[in-house]
Amino acid sequence: MAPIPHDTGPDRTLALLAEGYTFIGKRCRRYRSDLFQTRLMLRKAVCMTGDEAARVFYHPDRFTRRGALPPTTLRLLLDKGSVSLLDDEAHRQRKQMFLLLMTPESISRLADLMADHWRAAVGTWATKDTVVLDEGVQEILCRAVCQWAGVPLPAAEAKRRTREFGAMFEGAGAVGPRMWRGMLLRSRTERWMRGIIEATRAGEQTVPEGTATHVVAWHRDLDGNLLDPGTAAVEMINVLRPTVAVARFVTFAALALHDYPAWRERFQAGADVDLEPFVQEVRRFYPFFQFAGGRALSAFDWQGYHFAKGTWVMLDLYGTNHDTRIWVEPNAFRPERFREWDGNAFNLIPQGGGEHESGHRCAGEWITIALMKRAVQLLTTTMQYDVPEQDLRIDLSRMPAIPKSRFVISNVRPAG
Ligand code: HEM
Repeated sequence: MAPIPHDTGPDRTLALLAEGYTFIGKRCRRYRSDLFQTRLMLRKAVCMTGDEAARVFYHPDRFTRRGALPPTTLRLLLDKGSVSLLDDEAHRQRKQMFLLLMTPESISRLADLMADHWRAAVGTWATKDTVVLDEGVQEILCRAVCQWAGVPLPAAEAKRRTREFGAMFEGAGAVGPRMWRGMLLRSRTERWMRGIIEATRAGEQTVPEGTATHVVAWHRDLDGNLLDPGTAAVEMINVLRPTVAVARFVTFAALALHDYPAWRERFQAGADVDLEPFVQEVRRFYPFFQFAGGRALSAFDWQGYHFAKGTWVMLDLYGTNHDTRIWVEPNAFRPERFREWDGNAFNLIPQGGGEHESGHRCAGEWITIALMKRAVQLLTTTMQYDVPEQDLRIDLSRMPAIPKSRFVISNVRPAG
């Protein structure tokens, strides 16, 4: 077996923070290799990129997520007790709980709720000089997903809860104050969710069958037990928080409509068939999660290299979405490439790859795509707005990435 190419030198944690999304891809190019070994957070790590790497990484039951993320990132994202940290049968059974929520009818109800809240927001936005789109869409999504999930959200609380969810994903890629703020606010959200689960179980609150609150409150594990209230609260947050985070992709979609106005014209002319290619290209092109982490559950060999049990691997999601071996001119924004796309499960991996049911691929991918498509329709056909002068650059060393100005719009008015 050949030794895995080494990124020689001291611990690379600072380089990872400084280089952000480009950290793995840059080194893979330097070593002319799909993988290299380095040290991150004082531990040995193997970083990999490309669709072949994704295929091995998402092979069912090969990697666990336990011990694969820094504890603070883990706490702010999927957290202890969550589906992500389970393996084998226990994972599949819990994952099914999430997938139950993802029927086409349920997803279009969520998109309809978002559209209702969006239209109401346009009325308010029209009275303001400027609106930060990223913040506005987060609040719309927070209201919509709570309603969809059967979570009571009094109007007066919507802004506060939106801030809590926002702080969690803002803090996840950060070190320092951004991370601590996320931690502090997360404890509040957990208390809130735990209360809702307990009230549902005690019959003090009625929630419609099929909603996330109902499904999670009454889900039973492999031993037939209800989830403990803390774990149920964590799983509720795992539905609500990432749905609010879809605002980030909507902001990127708005940026794409601004930078490539021919697409806006196409959607205004009713080219709905291009909505899906457009949002797929937004998910491929713009930076969201940098990598996914896993630890090998047992030893295996791949491409002439040996991976011992317990090896910590980081798969480059952003780099795979920009791999020149997969994508022609990956740094060009070209939705057309998705008109004929074969749905390959390992090359477009902003939300992980492989199978949803048996692997760790994101449970909310269909929701994300549906919400983005509806948001693009809303941005192009139900409202008009100006995009004033601002700094729209995206700093690839900031995780999670966002245009510097967070996309400010002005002169908002309902369309024609
Ligand atoms: C905002 C856009 C989103 C992005 C970029 C995203 C990305 C991801 C990524 C990278 C993973 C981890 C894959 C891995 O461990 O290999 C993941 C897992 C997960 N996501 Fe998402 N996600 C998004 C939206 C959502 C939504 C809307 C939901 C739920 C409604 C959701 C629920 C989950 C769950 C439950 C997991 C854990 C899956 C498992 O371990 O089996 N995500 N997501």
